[in-house]
Amino acid sequence: MCGIVGFIGSRRALPVLVEGLRRQEYRGYDSAGVALVSDGGMWVRKTTGRVAELARAVADGPGGVVGIAHTRWATHGGVTVANAHPHLDSLERIAVVHNGIVENERALRRALQAEGVVFRSETDTEVLPHLIRKFYSGNPTDAVLRALEHIRGTYGIVVAFADHPEMLIVARNGSPLVCGIGDGETVIASDPQAVVEHTRRVVYLQDREMAIVRAGEVEVRGFDGGVLDLNVQLIDADYDVANREGFPHFMLKEIHEQPRSIRRCLLGRIQREDGLAKLGGLSMKPRDLVAIQRVITVGCGTSFHAGMAGAMAIEALARVPAHCEIASEYRYRHPIIERDALFLAVSQSGETADTLGAVQEIQLKGGQVMGVVNVVGSTIARTTGRGVYIHSGPEVAVASTKAFTSQVTALLVFTLMLARTRDLSLPRGQAVAAALDSVPEHVTHYLQNPGPIDQVVEVVKNARYVLFMGRGYSYPVALEGALKLKEIAYLPCEAYASGEMKHGPIAMIEEGTPVIAIVPMDDQREKTLSNLKEVEARGARIIAIHTEGDEEIAALADIAIAIPAVADFVSPLVTVLPLQLIAYHTGIALGRDIDKPRNLAKSVTVE
Ligand code: M6R
Repeated sequence: MCGIVGFIGSRRALPVLVEGLRRQEYRGYDSAGVALVSDGGMWVRKTTGRVAELARAVADGPGGVVGIAHTRWATHGGVTVANAHPHLDSLERIAVVHNGIVENERALRRALQAEGVVFRSETDTEVLPHLIRKFYSGNPTDAVLRALEHIRGTYGIVVAFADHPEMLIVARNGSPLVCGIGDGETVIASDPQAVVEHTRRVVYLQDREMAIVRAGEVEVRGFDGGVLDLNVQLIDADYDVANREGFPHFMLKEIHEQPRSIRRCLLGRIQREDGLAKLGGLSMKPRDLVAIQRVITVGCGTSFHAGMAGAMAIEALARVPAHCEIASEYRYRHPIIERDALFLAVSQSGETADTLGAVQEIQLKGGQVMGVVNVVGSTIARTTGRGVYIHSGPEVAVASTKAFTSQVTALLVFTLMLARTRDLSLPRGQAVAAALDSVPEHVTHYLQNPGPIDQVVEVVKNARYVLFMGRGYSYPVALEGALKLKEIAYLPCEAYASGEMKHGPIAMIEEGTPVIAIVPMDDQREKTLSNLKEVEARGARIIAIHTEGDEEIAALADIAIAIPAVADFVSPLVTVLPLQLIAYHTGIALGRDIDKPRNLAKSVTVE
């Protein structure tokens, strides 16, 4: 969601800026723009649509060595060239790119208009260059700091001054920014993926910090103006994800990466012989684990579904009450935060505003919250301070796939760790550890022979409505399957717990309605089988995801997709695979933009 790049050095800035935007395209956006300090002034180009459009528009641009660029995901004001960033002050000598939301924009806009300022866009961001101009009397740092005193909301900003081509000013409050320090040049970005091709030496800005950025130099200051120690870190070369490894889309690459990503998540964490699990990042001893009276997982979208599956396993295996909450609801519903509960904030990006808001609310009320996060050093990882990294590697496709399976895996490792401090015996612990250990093999096995996905695509691609259903561990999988099909194929579909069918959704079934049922061999199978017979009697076309060898389900289904036989608690890690493939191939059949579906953003950093 919105991407920022800034560059200052001695080579041409435009190619660096455009490539930096391209590398952040996966975050989702609808327009793009660039501003260069050039010939003593500001040279600006903006376009709606893809970064490729902007690249064409700036192909003959000047050779300036300082500039800023942005991809915008519309919040305030439509998708227009005028609303695209960078935004300029009235003299067109100060340019700003901004991620986040200025909450008091209306009051600031009115006050500035009363002073004679003419606005050119409908955006909240435009108040920033005008405010900075108002406080500017030759010192860029002071002007930015004074302007920010008036801003309420979240921001990551980069400001360029035509009068000061030797520097860029950067500031952060809630929206991530990283400064990459290279040899005689500095690259700023909202995402390390735009920096890593230039340098691996980076400084992550923290909230309420600003930086004065020069070619090859970064000076970080607090909002009180005081200079802070520079914390230079080395980013993982893994961040360099521009490569699709021969797959036509990142989504397909990431689906096929799951045996590896799940294995990475398990690596060094399972002691099979002792039936134990270890998660060092939690820093919890058995005594601390025993004190936990309840576990609440919190997340959004796919991470919410992973949190649901994890909570079910925690309750079933560790016998600790557990449930999952939608972060955006939880943060605002004045929840009771029990002191002996453990909260787990589940987030691939570690930047989701709603999940972060829930974390802050839990912390404010004295609750104990830890992260289950993919992106190392992300805001949720830092805010929680303790947690589990899922190690799935960078996920580029907007539709989350490998992060889901790694999140569930990490929560299952935690389940084993917790359960062994409770009732789970050594032999049961060994069985759980073995089941977890064998998941990558089962995932590989399924992906080598995924079954008649093309037949499913033929059935669903023109459907008016698709229903997903499952019980127990298969219910969050049904929700996840429906979410994937909506995101990638834009098909109307929903997911229900199979037992809810008779309470309403069955009214939607008519002759030919596709019903995708997740019905592995577990202790809920018989119940789902009855539900399948009910929809069959009403003319549904049944697509069943069933365990290999379950001939009864295969015979009942119009299309049957077999998955390997696994323990019930790990079943989401294999039953979700055909659903990911169905969404992907249906999206392809309908000509959708797979890695950048409409209206969506990879990290949802605004509410
Ligand atoms: O980065 P997060 O895991 O916190 O993101 C949460 C959701 O925005 C995310 O899972 C979203 O639902 C995905 N697009 C699903 O494919």
